[in-house]
Amino acid sequence: MQIKLIINLVYITSAIMFIYGLKLLTSPVTARKGNFISAVGMFLAVVVTLVNGGIIDYKWIALGIILGGLIGGFFARLVQMTQMPEMVALFNGFGGIASLLVGSATYYELGSYNLFIMTTLFLAVLIGGVTFSGSIIAWGKLSEVITGKPVLFFGQTILNGLIFVAALMGGAFFIANPADGYPILIGIIILSLMLGVLAVIPIGGADMPVVISLLNSYSGIAACAAGLAIENNILIVSGALVGASGIILTNVMCKAMNRSLYNVLFGGFGSVARKSEADFQGEVKPISPEDTYYILEAACSAVFVPGYGMAVAKAQHAVRELADLLEENGAEVRYAIHPVAGRMPGHMNVLLAEADVPYDKLIEMEEINRSIASIDICLVVGANDIVNPAAREDKNSSIFGMPIIDVDRSKTVIVLKRSMAPGFAGIDNRLFYNENTRMLFGDAKSSIEAVISQFKEL
Ligand code: TAP
Repeated sequence: MQIKLIINLVYITSAIMFIYGLKLLTSPVTARKGNFISAVGMFLAVVVTLVNGGIIDYKWIALGIILGGLIGGFFARLVQMTQMPEMVALFNGFGGIASLLVGSATYYELGSYNLFIMTTLFLAVLIGGVTFSGSIIAWGKLSEVITGKPVLFFGQTILNGLIFVAALMGGAFFIANPADGYPILIGIIILSLMLGVLAVIPIGGADMPVVISLLNSYSGIAACAAGLAIENNILIVSGALVGASGIILTNVMCKAMNRSLYNVLFGGFGSVARKSEADFQGEVKPISPEDTYYILEAACSAVFVPGYGMAVAKAQHAVRELADLLEENGAEVRYAIHPVAGRMPGHMNVLLAEADVPYDKLIEMEEINRSIASIDICLVVGANDIVNPAAREDKNSSIFGMPIIDVDRSKTVIVLKRSMAPGFAGIDNRLFYNENTRMLFGDAKSSIEAVISQFKEL
């Protein structure tokens, strides 16, 4: 009795540490500390669970920790920053399959059956299976192992609906006949895996980060259900936290793209290349690094607007160096951060933090937009969709309504990219033709380094 009390007290401590850690994650200044506190909370939870678990064979646990630790450590070191969303997709998938396995193993171990445990066990298996196969498809789309285009076929939604109903009916039968539920359980597992695949294939690669965030939420709900099935309080709490934070993040991303979750899941975004109808006036005006230097040298205020191309070019350190030179030259320098710049939430924040850019220089979209007209130069570093005025002006555009950074309203815009190719949404950008825009063509890192050498030479 006393042991149970101690264990639950440690679980409560861990839960508080998770929640406090999450709170600290809301600011880049405290994020590391938050991560550490949550990790210590998880360590405590694992230790007391192992101490408590009479049925656990430590040999297997040790083997799991060593093997899992080695594989995780190896891949975490190997993965490029741009591949992080793929890695998160796999993490979610493994979370899902873990809940499926815990649910199935619990059924195997059950001596007597009750309605509550059978229901939660069924939910852990169903949601865990959907999360696993859906995440593997999301990983495949992002890493281009399979096509990133939406895979659509006639009657798809009806088929998905039928599979879902069949899984629920199977679940009802399983719960009602627990004693001989094995074949049904296997059937539910197969249906859940099919459902995960079929639910994610119609979604375009462009929307995968949102889907991954949603699957992250599912993995939490599956873990929560598994926690209820095995009566483990900390699994219930941590699963609920993941489930809730995943759905909040999904919502934030949808808002930043001005899309509804329904549109992301069933809209088949990207299945038809929807181009802006606008016939652009003006001509594209390329600029050399030398001339870029002269413009920058005369600027009193400059704003860097980073996008996915900065991640591809790994240009963050060069950006920081150029910013330092501009500041030494007397200019006020800031960085404007769009919530969906790049390919994952916080992508730009992470890259700029890596280059030691002070956090107080990162300005959110709404705030920078308020004063953008007074800014001398906006340097758009590998960004495209997040600065496309079509989002504001062109009702036919697929990104119409998405909030953007209004760089076109600043005094001068210099866009760093390699070509006139469109960005993620696959649409042209009127910004490149504007009177006040200059195009510095080339890899963003090389271009910035060329400007830096002009600063150093002249
Ligand atoms: P994009 O619109 O994808 O544009 C990136 C630009 O970078 C491209 O036009 C490309 O042009 C350029 N580029 C690529 N490699 C480069 C290099 N080495 N040097 C210089 N430029 C390079 O990126 P964005 O403006 O960051 O917008 C993000 C998009 O992703 C939005 O549509 C958003 O909705 C979507 N999205 C984001 C998220 C999250 S959470 N971030 C989630 C879902 C969807 P070139 O090929 O001509 O160089």
